[in-house]
Amino acid sequence: MNPRHFLTLLDFTPDELRTVIRRASELRRIRHQGQLHEPLRGKVLGMVFEKSSTRTRVAFEAGMNQLGGSAIFLSPRDTQLGRGEPVEDTARVLSRMVDIIMIRTYGHEVLERFAEHSAVPVINGLSDQYHPCQLLADIQAFEEHRGSIQGRTVAWVGDGNNMCHSWINAARQLDFHLRIAVPDGYDPEPELVKAGGERVSIHRDPREAVEGVHLVTTDVWASMGQEEEAKARMKAFAGFCVDDDLMALADDDAVFMHCLPAHRGEEVTASVIDGPQSVVWDEAENRLHAHKALMEFLLLRQE
Ligand code: CP
Ligand code: NVA
Repeated sequence: MNPRHFLTLLDFTPDELRTVIRRASELRRIRHQGQLHEPLRGKVLGMVFEKSSTRTRVAFEAGMNQLGGSAIFLSPRDTQLGRGEPVEDTARVLSRMVDIIMIRTYGHEVLERFAEHSAVPVINGLSDQYHPCQLLADIQAFEEHRGSIQGRTVAWVGDGNNMCHSWINAARQLDFHLRIAVPDGYDPEPELVKAGGERVSIHRDPREAVEGVHLVTTDVWASMGQEEEAKARMKAFAGFCVDDDLMALADDDAVFMHCLPAHRGEEVTASVIDGPQSVVWDEAENRLHAHKALMEFLLLRQE
């Protein structure tokens, strides 16, 4: 039987996504009550990181340990991947030794090639194209604070990047509206926007995008791998900072989210990210619960 993978939010049905997100909230309660819950005893997670990470690494590693299993951190610096061993060979070998694999890499096609040759589930821990794990935690955080996201309106302010692409997929799968405020030249991929249909719209004026929305979210202007473009991007994104004036245009009950790490004074002011509407710390904590729910789903679900 071919394993299920989680490379984008489109790999799961809307019902499966809702199941994982609901389970993540249950796992949050279980942990907060101090109960032991170790259904993955004896299971091993392999984690391949070609880019830096704080949240994703700790959430997966701590999460797998809390579920009773263990995790192995692998970086190209100290594996044969960094010396040119093909991704396909690495996938074949690792998947004979571990039960589930998470990869953070650059090109999304690396993940696809890896998954194609893996005998066990592969999870996208971020690629240049998508960051689906983050969206599980984000939707969980929104719903814990404000109820179902279905039918609500979200404003994305900033780069048409991996996070933006995953928000588009989330809008499609979970049936909410997404207004994307982005400077010309930094749009998300047109075919993704098109696939979003009436749920997704592009705006050049952040104020227009944020008007009356229930959630405002943003991300860094230069993602990992774009460090050399940082200066040009600072210029292009001037006017796209989420500040108090912008937040004031959203619904009175709107929450602010950021996948982190954040640059205060660039894409968001300190007053917003550290202010009363921000739920970024719950959002970050939920990476732990959401990844545990995802691993449980991929390893224990009955067909
Ligand atoms: N948000 C996120 O993925 O954080 P890390 O880069 O620290 O994993
Ligand atoms: N867009 C950012 C997200 C980091 C979690 C990046 O790819 O660097």
